[in-house]
Amino acid sequence: MTELKTLQYDIGGGRYRPIYIGRGIIDHLAECARTLDADKFFIITDDNVAGVYLDEVKAQLEQVAETHAFVFPAGEQSKTLSTLESLGAKVLDARATKSSVIVCLGGGVVGNLGGLLSALLFRGIRFFHVPTTMVAQIDSAIGQKQAVNYKRGKNLFGQYYPPEFVFIDFAFLRKLPERQIRAGLAESVKHGLCQEETFFEFIGRCAPNFSWEDIEYISAHTIELKLELLIIDPYEGKLDPQLELGHTVGHALEIRKNGQLLHGEAIAIGMTVEAKISAALGFMSPELAARIEAIFQKIGLPTRIPADISIDEILETLTFDNKRRTAINDFFLLEAFGCFHKENGKIACKVPESLLRGVLESAY
Ligand SMILES: NC(=O)c1ccc[n+]([C@@H]2O[C@H](COP(=O)([O-])OP(=O)(O)OC[C@H]3O[C@@H](n4cnc5c(N)ncnc54)[C@H](O)[C@@H]3O)[C@@H](O)[C@H]2O)c1
Repeated sequence: MTELKTLQYDIGGGRYRPIYIGRGIIDHLAECARTLDADKFFIITDDNVAGVYLDEVKAQLEQVAETHAFVFPAGEQSKTLSTLESLGAKVLDARATKSSVIVCLGGGVVGNLGGLLSALLFRGIRFFHVPTTMVAQIDSAIGQKQAVNYKRGKNLFGQYYPPEFVFIDFAFLRKLPERQIRAGLAESVKHGLCQEETFFEFIGRCAPNFSWEDIEYISAHTIELKLELLIIDPYEGKLDPQLELGHTVGHALEIRKNGQLLHGEAIAIGMTVEAKISAALGFMSPELAARIEAIFQKIGLPTRIPADISIDEILETLTFDNKRRTAINDFFLLEAFGCFHKENGKIACKVPESLLRGVLESAY
């Protein structure tokens, strides 16, 4: 067990929320939850996580208040309005009140669903995250974005809504399949590219055989880098480019593969393809674009577009991208480490369809 530390993250308006963080700290969950003075806890989790961690988390919360648990099938396919509605019905039937607290135990899917349910129920009840995947611990649980998918695209129905706190126990990662750890590393590489070249290089040196110490250090440092961005921009609006690098193409692939491509895998391909677009436009050096593809290959992440997704399908899905502000084919393109291409002072950049098609054709 490591010592439980407390970090703070900025949710705007001079308000902060704690992140309780450490390894093997689960026995502290009851005291953290007690601070909320809840009448009931409603744990939302998926059927994989329920089989591994539900009992110990429930035992902690039962020391504090009446606790119920609702389980849905694991996977991206569950991140829908219909799962949201069915969870909401269960929470209501168990007589939730404005004093109740929702507990999101699981990965980014659980967190996004439980967070959005909390925002909507009675126009907002409190919730907290107990993230159990690397993606959730370093990214999705730290922020305010809550959303579900719709068949046309990712995260199309959502809300900004902050948790009361985030409880990050790195011990949860030890039972995570290796493929999920690699997917988490894609988000860390993203922060290296956007904020800290030496961190990018460090990850590259550790790959492909990461020790648990490496994973914990990389996770903790990725959280620090994300917190730096949230201080500047708690709603992740102005800083979309840093946080959404590779996500334009990545989200289109993720929704098209309907759960077969993990979020981190999809954005690894997305960052590779978007680097190639930037190189094709003359913004990024071909050497950096090659380094980006090489680090993902070394980690063991995919970098090529799956053969069963056509260019037309990608282009059609891009028209539903939730980051789109004006034209179709808006991209955030990196020129160098920490440096985005700007047009008229704005980072979003329109890419001509003919060039986009050409790069996509070369990216299979
Ligand atoms: N800002 C944001 O809100 C944000 C950021 C990044 C990702 N996301 C979203 O998060 C989702 C991806 O999150 P994810 O990668 O955590 O996926 P996930 O929630 O589907 O979890 C991945 C898999 O790991 C299993 N699992 C979870 N914890 C485990 C553990 N400790 N041991 C064993 N198995 C475990 C889950 O049951 C699931 O099968 C996507 O929907 C993505 O859009 C949101």
